[in-house]
Amino acid sequence: MAFKVSDFDYLVNLLLVAYLNKMSTVSGKATLEPQKSHNAIDSDGRKWNSDGNFLSPSDNSTISEALSRDPSLPSTVPYMNARIFTSNSSYKFIVPPRTRIWLRLHFYPSRYNDLDPSKAYFSVIGNGFTLLNNFSVFITAKALTQAYIAREFSLPPVETGDLDVAIVPSEGSHAFINGIEVIPMPDDLFRHPAALVGYSDHPVDLHSSSLQTMFRINVGGQFIAPNNDSGGLTRTWFDDSPYLLGAAFGVTSDAGKNIRIRYSKDVTEDIAPLNVYSTARTMGPDPNVNWNYNLTWVFRVDPGFIYVVRLHFCEFDFNKVNQRVFDIFVNNQTVQSGADIIAWVGSQGLPIYKDYAIHVEDQSRASGSEIWVALHPNASTNPEHYDAILNGLEVFKVNDTNATLAGLNPEPSAMLVNAEEHEKELSPSRSSLGRLLCRVAGGIFCCVTVAAIFVFIRRKTNYWLVINGDSHTLTIGGHCRRFALWEIKQGTNNFDESKVIGIGGFGKVYKGTIDFGTTKVAIKRSNPNSHQGVKEFHTEIQMLSKLRHQHLVSLIGFCEENGEMILVYDYMANGTLREHLYNTDKTPLPWKKRLEIAIGAAKGLHYLHTGAAKPPLKRNLCREQVCLVDWALHCLRKGNVHEIIDPCLMGKVNPWCLEIFAEAAQKCVSDRGSDRPSMGDVLRNLEFCLQLEEYTDIQL
Ligand SMILES: *[C@@H]1O[C@H](CO)[C@@H](O)[C@H](O)[C@H]1NC(C)=O
Ligand SMILES: *[C@@H]1O[C@H](CO)[C@@H](O)[C@H](O)[C@H]1NC(C)=O
Ligand SMILES: *[C@@H]1O[C@H](CO)[C@@H](O)[C@H](O)[C@H]1NC(C)=O
Ligand SMILES: *[C@@H]1O[C@H](CO)[C@@H](O)[C@H](O)[C@H]1NC(C)=O
Ligand SMILES: *[C@@H]1O[C@H](CO)[C@@H](O)[C@H](O)[C@H]1NC(C)=O
Ligand SMILES: *[C@@H]1O[C@H](CO)[C@@H](O)[C@H](O)[C@H]1NC(C)=O
Ligand SMILES: *[C@@H]1O[C@H](CO)[C@@H](O)[C@H](O)[C@H]1NC(C)=O
Ligand SMILES: *[C@@H]1O[C@H](CO)[C@@H](O)[C@H](O)[C@H]1NC(C)=O
Ligand SMILES: *[C@@H]1O[C@H](CO)[C@@H](O)[C@H](O)[C@H]1NC(C)=O
Repeated sequence: MAFKVSDFDYLVNLLLVAYLNKMSTVSGKATLEPQKSHNAIDSDGRKWNSDGNFLSPSDNSTISEALSRDPSLPSTVPYMNARIFTSNSSYKFIVPPRTRIWLRLHFYPSRYNDLDPSKAYFSVIGNGFTLLNNFSVFITAKALTQAYIAREFSLPPVETGDLDVAIVPSEGSHAFINGIEVIPMPDDLFRHPAALVGYSDHPVDLHSSSLQTMFRINVGGQFIAPNNDSGGLTRTWFDDSPYLLGAAFGVTSDAGKNIRIRYSKDVTEDIAPLNVYSTARTMGPDPNVNWNYNLTWVFRVDPGFIYVVRLHFCEFDFNKVNQRVFDIFVNNQTVQSGADIIAWVGSQGLPIYKDYAIHVEDQSRASGSEIWVALHPNASTNPEHYDAILNGLEVFKVNDTNATLAGLNPEPSAMLVNAEEHEKELSPSRSSLGRLLCRVAGGIFCCVTVAAIFVFIRRKTNYWLVINGDSHTLTIGGHCRRFALWEIKQGTNNFDESKVIGIGGFGKVYKGTIDFGTTKVAIKRSNPNSHQGVKEFHTEIQMLSKLRHQHLVSLIGFCEENGEMILVYDYMANGTLREHLYNTDKTPLPWKKRLEIAIGAAKGLHYLHTGAAKPPLKRNLCREQVCLVDWALHCLRKGNVHEIIDPCLMGKVNPWCLEIFAEAAQKCVSDRGSDRPSMGDVLRNLEFCLQLEEYTDIQL
């Protein structure tokens, strides 16, 4: 069938979507089942067209429906149907001439036409650029622990307005593709060349290169779904917290209602949504703390390519020059010294973005190659605040001199391989208890990350509550003490910076002493700028002072003097659980210890839910937690969660114990409250796990 440009009125819609629909292979009698129509609508309400018209009439590819639907698929359209290629094939799209094109490819690795998805290797070539080479959707999805893969490329303009997308199965293999989006791009997105770090006289010409979007992040803000993107460009913006390095999180900041963010001729709505510019991450309120760390994001990338790092800025806390001045490092090299957003744009609420290009060498380390983006205050201009700000971040890969963007398939991690071996060894013959448990737990393997999630979630449901799972905590009875400010000052050496053990939006936590150095305590001093008011402070004291439990960090007292709002808690000599789980300096916690901690936490919560603080408060999880939970749940559902087992525990955990643990953890994070077990049930499960684990110890 001939194909007419006007049929697709791309200029009106700015969106041309090909949907791989069964209908295109149904010849002769049309079936009337609703899903077999020419168009299909995804969960965002976008209309997808059938792809058949874009292939040559003699094409011998076929359409097939996925064997199973992964619960994490955002929408049936376009993922549940794929076109299967067993030989070279190509799509021909007619697009506006002299216009950059976004090409988004969607893949869902499932069994189609009874072909094993792990056997599919193929290349995709777009207008002569190798976008994917010997690509395995299966391996990639597994390595990323995602059910599906979406890849976004941006191709340089062509005079003729032709877009040719060739699908080339590797030898002896098949190819499949579930969805294609073709979107003409506004021409201001890659107008300017980017300076190459270290070679300032060698700018990278983006105009004639093809790019792959590696990361697109709303720093200090929320996930932005395609239908909430600006300019109707249907980009997806993710939250930045998973990419932050270490525990130095800085603080998130929001422009609030009083500051209006305005686009300008340099930064139009095509560049990024206002939501990106109206939220940010800054270093925090304390100049000394900020001076001593770098606010750093880390991204895994393929080695051997040039990457363009686009940083989006918008100042809304300050409005004068020299109030917040900082240096920017990419891969430990200074790319910008003395960045001052107000000096750049002249006023608050005006966005700006900067592109820095960097060549990433093969760093030949196990973790692969990385891009580090780090911010640090610059003191040389004597700014009013030692601080830094970032609102958004994008990383694009630039094609190499051979016009390729393709990297290698990720290597399955040693951990994954081990776990699979382990599973194989276990499956043939197990004790009857094992078999029973396996059946009960549905063969799920679990990970210690879930332990952390479990603890964090429950902890988050209670404001300010710090959970301590160690059973040797000192329980301090009696009433909540009121301290004089001088006592606190004495115990912290007048809030000496070297005693800071934690920092957050509320202020700082110091390690200190009371009673003339005889008792170690943790002292939380509210930052005067924090939003916590006196009333909240009182409520918190009232609430916390009623709680006494071996497994809960106790509030010892408070100090309210001279406008200071200070809380004094038990001191946890061994640091936070988070540090033990994520900080590589500390010896990794053995599994049994983790179980004991979880049990301790569950006991504390059981006490809170039944004994004392009251039904649990409904609080939203922080984004990092949501992300971890989603990720872990996804893995659990797929049953291939080996990747997220803490490597230091591999092979050291009784798998049945893990299964029970996983199941309990999974229930705890159910969407509906009614599906979640009571703390008492959780406790019983965990204690059973511990018994199993101890039983294994005896056996060994
Ligand atoms: C398929 O396409 C690739 C890349 O263009 C080419 O190298 C190969 O020879 C083609 N195979 C066949 C059978 O035409
Ligand atoms: C394709 O990739 C797989 C696994 O990454 C590898 O084993 C195979 O040799 C590759 N094939 C080609 C032609 O590069
Ligand atoms: C789009 O943004 C609005 C307002 O910020 C929000 O309420 C809505 O949930 C968002 N939609 C999606 C799909 O994220
Ligand atoms: C940057 O420097 C840190 C500390 O020296 C190092 O650990 C890290 O690997 C470096 N990052 C890159 C991308 O070179
Ligand atoms: C911040 O990063 C730069 C570049 O890697 C490094 O030179 C500097 O020492 C770091 N500063 C701190 C406080 O870590
Ligand atoms: C701070 O910024 C100034 C002005 O841009 C620059 O000359 C200086 O090198 C920067 N300082 C550092 C430590 O990078
Ligand atoms: C990307 O490919 C194009 C076309 O081959 C080429 O002109 C351009 O120089 C390449 N870009 C880089 C950075 O090598
Ligand atoms: C380009 O291809 C040639 C020949 O295959 C290869 O030797 C060269 O390393 C490639 N260049 C890059 C940057 O990968
Ligand atoms: C800290 O950890 C060590 C080693 O695990 C343990 O022996 C000690 O009792 C712990 N201290 C406290 C106060 O929990």
